[in-house]
Amino acid sequence: MIPANLERAVYGMYATHALGVAGRHGVFEHLIRHGGDSAGKIAAALAVDEDTLERLLLVLSSFGVLDAYGDRYALAAGVRPYIDREDPCYLMGFVEHLIGDTSGQFGRLSGYLHAGKAETDRDTPAPFEAIYRDDESVGRFLNAMWSLSHHVSHELAALADLSDVRRLIDVGGASGPFSVAALHTYPQLRSTVFDLPQVSPYLAARAAEHKLGDRLDFAAGDFFHDPLPAGDCFAFGYILSDWDDETCAKLLRKAYEACLSGGRVLIMERLFDEDRGGPLATAVMNLSMHVETQGRHRTATEYLDLLRHAGFTDGTVRRSSGDKHLVIGRRTESGFER
Ligand SMILES: C[S@@+](CC[C@H](N)C(=O)[O-])C[C@H]1O[C@@H](n2cnc3c(N)ncnc32)[C@H](O)[C@@H]1O
Repeated sequence: MIPANLERAVYGMYATHALGVAGRHGVFEHLIRHGGDSAGKIAAALAVDEDTLERLLLVLSSFGVLDAYGDRYALAAGVRPYIDREDPCYLMGFVEHLIGDTSGQFGRLSGYLHAGKAETDRDTPAPFEAIYRDDESVGRFLNAMWSLSHHVSHELAALADLSDVRRLIDVGGASGPFSVAALHTYPQLRSTVFDLPQVSPYLAARAAEHKLGDRLDFAAGDFFHDPLPAGDCFAFGYILSDWDDETCAKLLRKAYEACLSGGRVLIMERLFDEDRGGPLATAVMNLSMHVETQGRHRTATEYLDLLRHAGFTDGTVRRSSGDKHLVIGRRTESGFER
């Protein structure tokens, strides 16, 4: 008998794909609308093959995503917010990114083991050249980031207490998952998302959707080559986990130099337990960072060290109820120590 934890690890790939296919073909929307239904009725309503659909439903039931009652399937308790397109917790954009972009890159891991990452990736485009290779891929990535980041950003914005901040610079802020939440929370705040030019229309669409007017603007640039706009608060949401320590140090130092005296920096990231024994999602995404980017996930202590080396003082850690947390540093005139 395969132990249950090994069995889930072996067959997990089927669950990810079943989730993606069911989401793409409207199965979850149907279940939300009807509260539950048989494979035959769902297949008829969605005009899909019943045999294939039932096999997918059985996989999702086996993994506990659905409950089966006789021939009826319904969403298991607690699942709905994450598969409901209308809910802020919606996670299926991220699932699409895992299927469409991440999984195809795992083949390189054997090369990493034998020849190292640098040698194996020698002819591979830089992380964001690959992720932004075409419009479809840009849209899928930015949707995934919105899925992962927007909901928890309300909590992160509250934890950050930005009531005295005037201009937030959201470095690599994507289509604005954090900026939008922060602007909704703090009426005095204005935010500039600084990101690669491909991101511009996606930020404009979110700004319009959330009726933020000129409180949210976009500065196109490359944070390796261009100066950052000045501000009194710099946000780095899921940025430092894309890069190695040396690059993180340069980015944080750049933020320190652009930050007004008395201002602060917000690092928002998954945090490994100090012994790196978990959480599971951080361990998994740490592997994902290896194949998709040049980064890794870190412990709170490692982020506090990076902040201190860049000159920020008063490092503090504030944990959210989700899996993205906050590490804050302040710019005081006497702060810089190398
Ligand atoms: C992992 S996403 C994080 C998005 C968002 N901050 C969040 O918390 O969800 C990384 C972001 O960094 C941006 N980025 C990558 N390289 C960049 C560069 N050289 N200059 C500016 N932005 C960059 C990407 O376009 C993307 O929006």
